[in-house]
Amino acid sequence: MIEVQNLTKYYGDFIAIENVSFEAKRGEVVGFLGPNAAGKTTTMRIITGFMPPSAGTVRVAGYDIQTHSIEARRQVGYLPETTPLYTDISVRDYLDFMGGLRGMAPARRRTRIDYVIQRMRLEEYAHTLIGRLSKGYRQRVGIAQAVLHEPEVLILDEPTIGIDPVQVVETRELIKSLGKEHTVVLSTHILPEVSQICERVVVINEGHIVAVDRPENLSVRLRGTEQVKVEVRGPARDVSARIRRIQGVREVTQRDGASGASVYTLECDPGSNIREELASAIVQQGWGLLGLQAVTMSLEDIFLKLTTHEDEAKPQ
Ligand SMILES: Nc1ncnc2c1ncn2[C@@H]1O[C@H](COP(=O)(O)OP(=O)(O)OP(=O)(O)O)[C@@H](O)[C@H]1O
Ligand SMILES: [Mg+2]
Repeated sequence: MIEVQNLTKYYGDFIAIENVSFEAKRGEVVGFLGPNAAGKTTTMRIITGFMPPSAGTVRVAGYDIQTHSIEARRQVGYLPETTPLYTDISVRDYLDFMGGLRGMAPARRRTRIDYVIQRMRLEEYAHTLIGRLSKGYRQRVGIAQAVLHEPEVLILDEPTIGIDPVQVVETRELIKSLGKEHTVVLSTHILPEVSQICERVVVINEGHIVAVDRPENLSVRLRGTEQVKVEVRGPARDVSARIRRIQGVREVTQRDGASGASVYTLECDPGSNIREELASAIVQQGWGLLGLQAVTMSLEDIFLKLTTHEDEAKPQ
């Protein structure tokens, strides 16, 4: 649905992004994750046709954003980083105005406005001046205008920034549900947001993509192994030996745990998924299985590793 290929953008001599490539498939919610100045907004402005790249191409629903700009832009709804909302106009009038700008016929405009007002839960505020809305509700109006013309693709630049925690939860739920009907790319520097709403994450740092994966896969990929911790009460040497015989286990380290048990840390082949076999092997030997868990890196760990040790963490 969205194909971004080798995008490069110079501001004067400064390279803001270089060779950025990724794609978003139909119905996917992709998180564009990176620290300040990483190049998120720059990339999104190019995808939405707001400004041209210095090099590279973007295709939206098959249309090249530069050579078929009108067709491509028709498929895109955009929530910019700073929403240029007019403040002295009501929510409903603003949406009507935006619909008009996009060439929607009056009847369709009315139906769609009714729908988005209800969908974004703005009913109470339909006749309120935008300038009197809270930040969170303004953000909803911003999303409402982005989905108004039923675009295939939604580009949301930091949609939850500056919103209070209660509204953030609601806004994330809303975006998730929009992901059922649209292809969504959202930028954020908030890590938990990515694991909560996104199926895939594109990590960008200093204008370069440093990883593209499912949030849960990033940790495996960075470490190169899956880690499992298991706590067992039983003779340590026998337990270690038995664990080592399980296929996929590369390494076992043992340390003493509480009340005579030991904690074993296993480095396993990625995707080996040995936990069931491990549990039944231990139980069959008559040993006590006190705990068993797969260890994942937190997104914070991953993010730091990707962005601060870029060279060693770069995916092969
Ligand atoms: N119009 C511009 N002229 C010159 N430099 C710019 C311009 N817009 C952005 N930049 C620079 O390009 C780099 C990328 O900026 P961009 O706004 O894309 O980052 P971002 O990832 O969206 O950051 P943030 O999380 O702070 O929004 C930054 O170093 C920024 O200073
Ligand atoms: Mg930005």
